[in-house]
Amino acid sequence: MNTVEFTPDLTTGTSEYVMSQRVLNSRSIRQPYELYSAENQEAWRKLYSRMEPQWERFATEVFMEGRHKLDLRTDAVPRLSDVNLRLAKLTGFRAEPVSGYIPALNFFDALSRREFPTTITVRPMSSLDYTSEPDIFHDVAGHVPMHTHPDFATVLRRFGACAHTAAELCAGIPNHREATRRVKSIVRGLARAFWFTVEFGLMKSHDGLRAYGSGLLSSYGELQHALASPMVHRAPFQLEWALHTHIDYDRFQCLLFVIDSFDQLFTEVERLERWMKEGRLDNLTGGEPQISDMEAEPFLSAADLVLPHSA
Ligand SMILES: [Fe+2]
Repeated sequence: MNTVEFTPDLTTGTSEYVMSQRVLNSRSIRQPYELYSAENQEAWRKLYSRMEPQWERFATEVFMEGRHKLDLRTDAVPRLSDVNLRLAKLTGFRAEPVSGYIPALNFFDALSRREFPTTITVRPMSSLDYTSEPDIFHDVAGHVPMHTHPDFATVLRRFGACAHTAAELCAGIPNHREATRRVKSIVRGLARAFWFTVEFGLMKSHDGLRAYGSGLLSSYGELQHALASPMVHRAPFQLEWALHTHIDYDRFQCLLFVIDSFDQLFTEVERLERWMKEGRLDNLTGGEPQISDMEAEPFLSAADLVLPHSA
């Protein structure tokens, strides 16, 4: 059995501080900035500086403007308090530090409240190209610039509202087994729709296709591959395809969806919610993501969830 050697810094997978918060079951934590080591800062600098030319070529304009508005720096890990001060004036979104994985319902519920669960650790220098867990580079350099745009922020809140709708629908099913089966299918659909848009979406621009998905924008290897490789199918976004396509986490994506605008994306998320209500998400193709009983259960007992104000 592998034993983890804990480190006093904020390195992904080994940080003593983060592990101690997980043991305490504290999902919401602070960002103890003084714990970033010289190596953590060096990893951020390297990750950021090598992405800059890639972003120039392949990132959507909204992302580039968002970076500028947030004044994200190459030379140091950002302080979330600074990022949030700037975000507050733009869309009211906040990057909320968390200790790690957040169950689906909590994640989407946070979005509906304009909160984005944000990892504070930095991947180790030895694995800059791949991190099995999200890190602050993925969350802050990849996601947060998009949160500066009001239309995109509205889309995120709409995804959050969809999770509330799923909980309301499934809470009304008397047969627990049937309710669990349906909620697993619906959450799989919600996760796939999110994956093929917010994480891996492409968008048309006057300069050709550009990436707005954060999984692409935080990946040195995959961003160029997504937009330039003949090995990738780039198809106009079609919700039923996204819902029935299983996610492959272990390789570069071979199918990506293209949208025209964030207005279109908002319409698609509205459609997702409508289909959910019509039962069209109750029987989706199996495969990834697998939704566990633990993940499904909160949707069935979510009566105490604070419902979002309408967007
Ligand atoms: Fe992400």
